[in-house]
Amino acid sequence: MDLPAELVRALDRGLAGASPKPLAGAVERLMAHYRGTVGMATDHPLLSRREDVVAYAAYRMPATYAAVRSALGAFAALAPTWAPGSHVDVGGGTGAAAWAVADAWPTVGRTTVLDWAGPALELGRELAAASPVLARTAEWRRQRIGAGLEVPGADLVTVSYVLGELTGEDRERVVAEVLARGRVVAVVEPGTPAGYRRVLRAREQAIEAGWSVVAPCPHGAACPVVPGEDWCHFAVRLPRSSVHRQVKGGSLGYEDEKFSYLVASRTPLPTARHRVLRHPAQRKGMVTLQLCADDLTVRRTVVTKKRDPDLYRAARDTSWGDAWPPEGDTVRPR
Ligand SMILES: C[S@@+](CC[C@H](N)C(=O)[O-])C[C@H]1O[C@@H](n2cnc3c(N)ncnc32)[C@H](O)[C@@H]1O
Repeated sequence: MDLPAELVRALDRGLAGASPKPLAGAVERLMAHYRGTVGMATDHPLLSRREDVVAYAAYRMPATYAAVRSALGAFAALAPTWAPGSHVDVGGGTGAAAWAVADAWPTVGRTTVLDWAGPALELGRELAAASPVLARTAEWRRQRIGAGLEVPGADLVTVSYVLGELTGEDRERVVAEVLARGRVVAVVEPGTPAGYRRVLRAREQAIEAGWSVVAPCPHGAACPVVPGEDWCHFAVRLPRSSVHRQVKGGSLGYEDEKFSYLVASRTPLPTARHRVLRHPAQRKGMVTLQLCADDLTVRRTVVTKKRDPDLYRAARDTSWGDAWPPEGDTVRPR
């Protein structure tokens, strides 16, 4: 997935003044934090200094953008006529999800980014000046997720890579609050067993609140992917800029971001019939797909050229994370 050109240029400009050594040190600290070698929930913002925020924007923002954009793309494919008039991004930091929403729905009328880290919001605002959509729509507001959290009502609320930084109590609280205030909610977490567990709990909360699960799941019944045995996650490949390569080390021109996600809606919307849960395995004349299926199971299906040439061609073009089958792939809400 390509990043918006305006975001790439804005990041390059935003990082241009940073001296490499302190930036590399700040990236190292953040990496240690996100790898879980230090405690995750804190009682003060981790992104409290400009150099930490710049490091975050260089090291993580392109990947979190790509994960959110990918999740929103899966949702938009199921609801092509739906578009949000307003968007709130909770724990939005430097605005990755705001950029993703602006890219998916440039007609969005108002975007409010909430975070407790002032320097993150400041850099977010500076970067967003380069986006024709966000320059017009975005408001950047200090807000702590905790007791007394108030999320403005919005058509779409995103909570991206935030739940892992919160205490269990605040996690429950923020999900309950966005379900009370939003019409569609997207939760995105790292594609790890722990990230998946947090998404699964948000999914339970949404279902308990009477919401409909739209993506990635084909249904709102119990998730057939059992924590401890496996975890539901997807991946998106994104290009690394040269600054990105400098701060992260390594020479690859791309990286793969793994993520887990949930999109749920207050009112029912179509879902995928099945969802592809792994890279399809291709052999001559045959594609094997691992599916989360509408019969509430995870199962394999083998598509052969001999038996069904059209479906086989479609299977060859199908990727991990796609809806299956690709055409007429939605199930109307019952
Ligand atoms: C990993 S960053 C994700 C930022 C952004 N959502 C993204 O996807 O790139 C986590 C964000 O959550 C914010 N955050 C963590 N705990 C918070 C709290 N208790 N109240 C408000 N914001 C919080 C942090 O300041 C940070 O910006």
